Amino acid sequence: MSVLVDLHCHVHPGVDDGPTDEAESAALLRALADAGVRRLAATSHVRPDRGWMNTAPTEPERAARLERVRAAAGVDVEVVRGAEHYWHEDVFGDLDRFAELAVPFGSSRWVLVEAAYLGPPPGFAEVLFGLHRKGFRVLLAHVERFPYLEGDRALLDRLHGMGVRFQVNLGSLAGAHGRVQKHAAERVLKTGLVSVLAGDCHRASDVDANIVRGLAAARRVIDEATLRRLCLEGPSAILDDAPAERV
Ligand SMILES: [Fe+2]
Repeated sequence: MSVLVDLHCHVHPGVDDGPTDEAESAALLRALADAGVRRLAATSHVRPDRGWMNTAPTEPERAARLERVRAAAGVDVEVVRGAEHYWHEDVFGDLDRFAELAVPFGSSRWVLVEAAYLGPPPGFAEVLFGLHRKGFRVLLAHVERFPYLEGDRALLDRLHGMGVRFQVNLGSLAGAHGRVQKHAAERVLKTGLVSVLAGDCHRASDVDANIVRGLAAARRVIDEATLRRLCLEGPSAILDDAPAERV
């Protein structure tokens, strides 16, 4: 498998902890394309606690700038919109406001959600259910980072049954974030509940560990058909706005 759809990339210049300028954005786009990524979602952070508010009202401006960077660099990759929505009161406390701020993937209703790091937020499943009632479909980012999630099979099953889908970082499988996250990523992958593997690259130098070595590490845990489902078919279904049962 040499063609990937990467639903988790920080490629916009100067908006979060991703590329600091257009040259770094262009270098990252080129490295992703060279690693086999043909479509990617530009999922800059929505994180009020860090001052990063890459929300819907300002998305067209970011997309236009990135498209100029991509075209000038001559990189053959399709970029679709998105954002990584961090679990914060100012983002998820009021779901009407969330609907105004959110940047779903492409033209779909799927949103990438980054859970809280300190522990299970109060009302976690209830808010996720509320998002579904508002018509959103939820992909939870790098679930291996949250012990209260990946270590709780009953919670994973419950969320999966509600239609929530799970993303794991390829870099975690490669050990890019240490042994604890590597083992957590392998454990959660073996549950069969993961729908998407992604790069979560922030700069060109991340691509080797997060994608190239990540794919090699994934192959030691899952077979080629599963790898293809998680890196290509699952992400493509999300961009096609498929219902959760088909992702
Ligand atoms: Fe991210």
